[in-house]
Amino acid sequence: MKKKIFRIKKLKWKRKLVCLTAYSKPITKILDKYCDIILVGDSVATAFYGMKNTKSISLGTMINHSLAVKKSVKKSLFVVDMPINTYKNFREAEKNAKIISKTVRCDAVKIESNGKNFNIIRHLVKSGIPVMGHIGYTPQYKKKFKLYGLKQNEEKKLIEESKKIEKAGAFSIVLECIAEKTAKKITDIINIPTIGIGSSKFCDGQILVTDDLIGLSGFYPKFVKKYLNLQKILEKGIRKFKDDVIKGKFPKKMNTY
Ligand code: KIV
Repeated sequence: MKKKIFRIKKLKWKRKLVCLTAYSKPITKILDKYCDIILVGDSVATAFYGMKNTKSISLGTMINHSLAVKKSVKKSLFVVDMPINTYKNFREAEKNAKIISKTVRCDAVKIESNGKNFNIIRHLVKSGIPVMGHIGYTPQYKKKFKLYGLKQNEEKKLIEESKKIEKAGAFSIVLECIAEKTAKKITDIINIPTIGIGSSKFCDGQILVTDDLIGLSGFYPKFVKKYLNLQKILEKGIRKFKDDVIKGKFPKKMNTY
């Protein structure tokens, strides 16, 4: 576990980090071949369950998806998001982070920062649980999806926040929806890898929600590049199945016992 974390930290100085989210075993099997980090994000709430936001996903649901993902993780660093109500104080955070890491045997947990939570991060790291931070647009705390760090005061706050997260012992930080100039400054200032989502190329790595990248989520802000239109591909296949069933073309003899 520690070796993998060390490798990820060292890559900051060598090459960009490739990171994606996963919620299931079959998708993870593909991602694991190409990713440095696989995250079971609490975006499972919106992208998979169609919930309004990520606030009401339960620890149990995160654990179930993580157990499925774990089955296919062979080489990537495996990170699990802590749901919002699971790290309210030291005791809760440690108890729940230990439940997650013991049950799913992940390499690290991720915690959104909201300008606070530095002591929680420090406490978890001291208890032996590696932590990834998350700043900028942090869906667990912010109502409106917007860009952060354009204004001088916001930039200053984000730089301070990232320094505090690094000092607390996190091994990397997700920068979500942060203006290019600010993301660049943070990446240059801190010594742990920054993983950007909607935060420009000036981050040490990039992460996307896989369902957005494959065109399945229906959520395509400017920072998402749809590499695939899986919705269209699925439509084609399902429509063909429907036609075959209606016309009696399926099942054929070869599909029959
Ligand atoms: O929940 C999630 O998928 C995330 C990524 C967007 C970084 O936090």
